[in-house]
Amino acid sequence: MELPVILTISIGGKIKEYFAISGDKLHTDLGVINLDELNGKSFGDTIRSHLGAEFIIRKPKAPDLFKYAKRTGAPMMPKDIGVIISNTGLCSTDHVLDAGTGSGILSIYLGSIAEKVVTYEIREEFVEIALQNFALAGLANIELRHGDITVEIQGLDEKFDVITLDTMDASKAIPYVPRVINPGGFLAVYSPFFEQAKEVREAIEKTGFAEVTTIELIEREIAFTGRGTRPSTSRVGHTGFITIARYY
Ligand SMILES: C[S@@+](CC[C@H](N)C(=O)[O-])C[C@H]1O[C@@H](n2cnc3c(N)ncnc32)[C@H](O)[C@@H]1O
Repeated sequence: MELPVILTISIGGKIKEYFAISGDKLHTDLGVINLDELNGKSFGDTIRSHLGAEFIIRKPKAPDLFKYAKRTGAPMMPKDIGVIISNTGLCSTDHVLDAGTGSGILSIYLGSIAEKVVTYEIREEFVEIALQNFALAGLANIELRHGDITVEIQGLDEKFDVITLDTMDASKAIPYVPRVINPGGFLAVYSPFFEQAKEVREAIEKTGFAEVTTIELIEREIAFTGRGTRPSTSRVGHTGFITIARYY
């Protein structure tokens, strides 16, 4: 079995987990795990530390990458990624254009579903980290290109079914979306501030799309405690506004 793997153990009813990325030993508070012993094992099998703690071996999936992948900035939250996936109807034959790559978390979720993802990152120092994260995710269908999407989109001669923009200057790329989007394709733009969301809406209106909606998704976790059950008092606050527009 190849790395990475997630190793989980239940201690006193609480789940602890460890992300084993590389090397031949993993040092944990429950002992040292010899990762060579993963050879010949399958997901769901167990592996023991030198102190006898027994861990279940799990295959990492996109939510694990959200938790454990190296970050270059704020990745998109899974709740917002869910809105993009559901509202664009992303499917296994789709080709996606994404920018900016950042830590690559959105690209990893998109690449887990779509046929191909092309993602642009303007900052060279972020490119290597995102590439490492794609390798950890085991995805070979994500092509990372170094460049400014607002410039690169003007020269692209490929077509995409879904275009996702998570950059402060997304509105500058929007006028060029019609030249690279397939008929009936979707544009999804993530904007942390009202001001940006407004710029995005204005650019969409000027460019001309068939439909457009902007939403904010509020997530409330429910806390189950001995005292009672209610929405958690510590929660994720505002993350961003998501604008979804469909091209003719
Ligand atoms: C908020 S992060 C994206 C996070 C990413 N969606 C994720 O889930 O990990 C924004 C990224 O866009 C990059 N960026 C900003 N402007 C850009 C542009 N014009 N073209 C390409 N990348 C850009 C930034 O360097 C940064 O890494």
